[in-house]
Amino acid sequence: METLEAIRARRSIRRFRSDPVPRDVINRVLEAACMAPSPKNTQPWRFLVLEGSKRLELVTVMRHGLRERLATRSSPHDLENTLRAMEEAPVVLLVFMEEAEPSSRNGLGEQDRVADIQSIGACIQNLLLAAVNLGLGTLWICDVLDAGDAMQRFLNRPDQLVAAVALGYAAESPPERPRRPLAQSVNWAG
Ligand SMILES: Cc1cc2nc3c(=O)[nH]c(=O)nc-3n(C[C@H](O)[C@H](O)[C@H](O)COP(=O)(O)O)c2cc1C
Repeated sequence: METLEAIRARRSIRRFRSDPVPRDVINRVLEAACMAPSPKNTQPWRFLVLEGSKRLELVTVMRHGLRERLATRSSPHDLENTLRAMEEAPVVLLVFMEEAEPSSRNGLGEQDRVADIQSIGACIQNLLLAAVNLGLGTLWICDVLDAGDAMQRFLNRPDQLVAAVALGYAAESPPERPRRPLAQSVNWAG
């Protein structure tokens, strides 16, 4: 598939079939993710692949961490949709930003962290596009970041959780979501 075609075909998928995703397919998606550029090639991303019962445990912890938001939010179904997608998808990938050694790049300043987050964004987008190419659906999820201490305790890792990606075979084919006209996002100078 052409790159532009994959970019155009990608959608956030929130309904998944239960069919398992073979490990070699997951690895191909992760390899594409890791081809992303990064500052001085530091490759600050780390992944945890959750399948089966571990994935469901994560969703339970997340639901618990989000209970206040679920109760008070004006449209809690958004969060419920995210949680359901994580339950349905046979694979949930957690994406972390590595905790850099104090000696590397003289410790991480705010600018370094911003740069690392940019490259992790590129890494996740690579992952989503590779998934499209391999016939898989994905949902990029930041709601995991609101689940608080319970999630940190469950994960028990020194590195920082940045996002989750639900991965599996799509059980829906949503239409393209609208984008504002280019002229509203772009200025030209010179
Ligand atoms: C950084 C980021 C975080 C997101 N977090 C969530 C999320 O937690 N739950 C969810 O359902 N969708 C999430 N999305 C998906 C967006 O809602 C979606 O990309 C947007 O509505 C455009 O739709 P499309 O991806 O189908 O083009 C996230 C997307 C990005 C890039």
